[in-house]
Amino acid sequence: MAFSIIDNQLVIANKELSYSVSDICKNQEEPFYLYDLDGIESRFDYFAKGLKKASQDLRVHYAMKANSHPLILQKLKSLGAHVDVVSLGEVKLAMENHFLASDIIFSGVGKSVKEITECLKLGIYQINVESLPELERIAQISKKLGVVAPIGIRFNPDVNPETHPYITTGFRENKFGLDFSDAGKIDLVVSDYKDQLNLQGMSIHIGSQIKDTQSFADAIEKTINVYKTLEQNPLWNLQSLDIGGGLGINYNTIDETTDLSLIDEYCALVKAKTQNFPGTLICEPGRVLVARFGALLGRVEYIKNNNYKNFAILNTGMHHLMRPCLYSATHNIVPVIENTDGKDVLYDVVGPICESSDVLGSDRLLKELKQDDWLAILDAGAYGAVMASNYNQHEMMGEFVVSSNQVHKVN
Ligand code: LLP
Repeated sequence: MAFSIIDNQLVIANKELSYSVSDICKNQEEPFYLYDLDGIESRFDYFAKGLKKASQDLRVHYAMKANSHPLILQKLKSLGAHVDVVSLGEVKLAMENHFLASDIIFSGVGKSVKEITECLKLGIYQINVESLPELERIAQISKKLGVVAPIGIRFNPDVNPETHPYITTGFRENKFGLDFSDAGKIDLVVSDYKDQLNLQGMSIHIGSQIKDTQSFADAIEKTINVYKTLEQNPLWNLQSLDIGGGLGINYNTIDETTDLSLIDEYCALVKAKTQNFPGTLICEPGRVLVARFGALLGRVEYIKNNNYKNFAILNTGMHHLMRPCLYSATHNIVPVIENTDGKDVLYDVVGPICESSDVLGSDRLLKELKQDDWLAILDAGAYGAVMASNYNQHEMMGEFVVSSNQVHKVN
C-alpha cells in the first residue's frame, strides 16, 4: 500500500503498520526524500515471482541508476537481486553495499579504459557492449590482462515505444546498442580475439516509463529470432538473453496497486515470447521497483499570489527533482496534513531556483496552504535523488528510510 492518505494525513502503510509522515516533518526544516523499504520489498517479490513464471532460470539485475540509496541496495541484495550499473562509481557503491562482482552487469555507451580494466580485474558477471570500437577496446585490455571478457552484445531492436523521446533507447536513431545487421562485423572482431572474448549473452533495453507492452513484445520477438541464428554460430557462446528494464508505473494515480496489473501483463508477454527459450533470462528493472516507494518532502516558504496565479513556493524544486522540468513529468502532490477546513485553491507548486522551469506541479487544486506546511511530491523514488544537484549552491536534500516503522537517516 506504501504512501497513502488516511484520515487526511499522508502515511506509509504496509502490512499491519502505519507510519505517519508528519512525525518526521515535525523535526525537520530542510527538504528530504523519504523511502519505504517494506514497499520496495513487496514490489520486488511481486515482480520477481511474476517473471519466474516466464523462466525459472531468471536473474533480476536492479538498475541502480534509478535509486542507489545504500539501504535500498542492501535490501534488494538481501532479496536476491543482482545489479545493473553504468559507471565505476556505481560498481564501487554496489560492492560497498554487499553486491559481489559476480552480481554485476555493466551497461552504457561510453565505458572508459579505466572502467573496463577495473571490471575485468574484479571479474564482473557481464559487460554489455554497445559498439564495435568498445568490443575491440575490451578485447585489447583483456589480452593485456590475460583474461577472458564475459560479453553481452546489446542490440538495438528498432522499436519506438510510446514514452518521452528523451527516454527511448531502442529506436534506430538512438545512440544505444548495435544493429542486428552488425552481427557479421562482430564476428570479425571476435575471430581476431577468440581467446579474449566470450560472447555469452545478447541484450536489449528499449527505453523507460513504457506502459505500451506491445513494444516489449515486438523487441523480444525480433531479438529471440536473431538469438536462434547466432546460437548456431561457432564464434558465439550464447547462454543468456537480457531483456533490459523500462516497465513504467501509473504516475496518474497514487494507488500503487494499479501497477500490479501492468506487471502481470508484462510478465505474461515475456512468458509468451520466451517460451522454450533454453538459456538464462535476465532483466534490468529500475523504476518499477522503487518509484512508488519514495516521496520528496518540501516545506512551504511563501504563498505568493499575483493577478494570474497562486504560487506555493517550496524549499525544494528542480534541483532535487528534475523530472517535471526535464520530461514534463507529472507527479502527484499532496499535503502531509490536509487543512480540511480550507477552501480549494489552484496552485503552481514551485521551487526557489532562479529559472521559470522550476515548477514541480502546475495548476494543482489543493486545500488552502500556509507558510511552513509540508507537501509531498509522490512517486519520486526513481530518478529523483540520484539526479539531484546543488544548483544555485542550494544544499542537497536529506534522505530518510522507513523500514518496519523505524526511521533511518543515511545522508
Ligand atoms: N537498463 C539500462 C541499460 C538502462 O539504461 C536503464 C535506464 C534501465 C535498465 C532501467 O530502466 P527503468 O526500468 O528504470 O525504466 N531519468 C529518466 C529515466 C532514464 C532511464 C535510463 N536508463 C526518468 O526520470 O524518467
